[in-house]
Amino acid sequence: MKVLITGGAGFIGTNFIFYWCKHHPRDLVVNFDKLTYAGDRNNLKKLEKSSRYCFVCGDTTNKQAVDRVMKKVDLVVNFAAESHVDRSINNPQVFLETNVLGTFNLLEAALENKVNRFHHISTDEVYGSLSLGSKNKFSEKTKYEPSSPYSASKAASDHLVLSYWQTFGLPVTITNCSNNYGPYQYPEKFIPRMITNLLEGKKIPIYGDGKYVRDWLHVEDHARAIEAVLIKGRPGETYCVGGLKKDINNLEIAKMILKIMGKNDKDWLEFVVDRAGHDRRYAVDWNKISQELGWKPRYNLTMGLEQTVEWYRNNSSWWQNKKQEAERFYQQTNKK
Ligand code: NAD
Ligand code: DAU
Repeated sequence: MKVLITGGAGFIGTNFIFYWCKHHPRDLVVNFDKLTYAGDRNNLKKLEKSSRYCFVCGDTTNKQAVDRVMKKVDLVVNFAAESHVDRSINNPQVFLETNVLGTFNLLEAALENKVNRFHHISTDEVYGSLSLGSKNKFSEKTKYEPSSPYSASKAASDHLVLSYWQTFGLPVTITNCSNNYGPYQYPEKFIPRMITNLLEGKKIPIYGDGKYVRDWLHVEDHARAIEAVLIKGRPGETYCVGGLKKDINNLEIAKMILKIMGKNDKDWLEFVVDRAGHDRRYAVDWNKISQELGWKPRYNLTMGLEQTVEWYRNNSSWWQNKKQEAERFYQQTNKK
């Protein structure tokens, strides 16, 4: 089978390609990635020796490039996106271009080439925000209410993907997943930013009051969820994917990281200016994927964070330049 992965040089795409090549060694995997600030071709360098993997540098907003790479493809997994909420507040246009127009080009080419499955990677952020202390969770039936230009662009792409099923019968599936963490995550994101700050002797920046809740999932569990949907999921369906059973807020996550890294709370936390439009709470009901497809997360949060801290400790050459770039971005936006 020929599998086209878009955005495979980014965080989740990289982890997914490692997972897929390990568990489906006979497939040919084509990784189509623009290599933005968030993409790193070297993540998958060791696979480049294999005849079952190939890297193509290209932009999903370029229709001709997308048409070329889609030839004879059986399966598409679309990770390519601008993914950082803070950057979408500063520069929304590229979010619309990549997340909406890029997805549109892929859908058109997939339809033209009669691919067997188009799987779109989406986010729980399309559902907006839940109130703190409530027991409510996002599910496949929750109304879309995106808050940021990032989540609005992801919501638009989800609607477009489902419209290609309804209107043209393109066999699509979508996963709406919660916050991932693990190896190869760009150090602009909360968990790797905390770890790399502490490794550099700097404090953890906490936005606002720190009482914001995310539903954390290890990236390998996300890869397994996508695999389950590709193999057993029903075309035209969306599946919510999440990791936690109880709420954990950002301050509590920060304290877990501090404990793992042997530092005390008081000296290493710094409250900074809040994110505009900051969603208060995410929580995901993942009963559908669990009951229909038999998926559930395997990592427990403490073990997953310990493994992640260890990875960043051992891979400073991977993150040091990326961190400088990320911190330059935060300096420019006055978000130290
Ligand atoms: P990332 O920012 O780490 O990687 C994105 C990748 O897409 C990069 O390699 C980049 O070069 C590539 N890319 C960007 N624009 C492109 C374009 N126009 N053409 C081709 N390639 C392009 O993102 P991530 O965290 O790995 O997220 C991957 C997907 O998963 C995204 O669609 C995101 O919305 C979704 N998602 C992320 C999370 C999370 O916690 N990180 C959670 C749920 C869903
Ligand atoms: O929910 C899924 C989404 O998770 C994905 O769709 C996005 O692509 C991904 O970036 C992530 O979005 P968040 O905005 O939730 O992730 P981020 O790591 O930027 O922030 C997590 C929480 O931590 C959020 O409440 C903001 C807060 N935060 C973040 C940073 C970078 C801080 O308090 N300090 C920080 O320095």
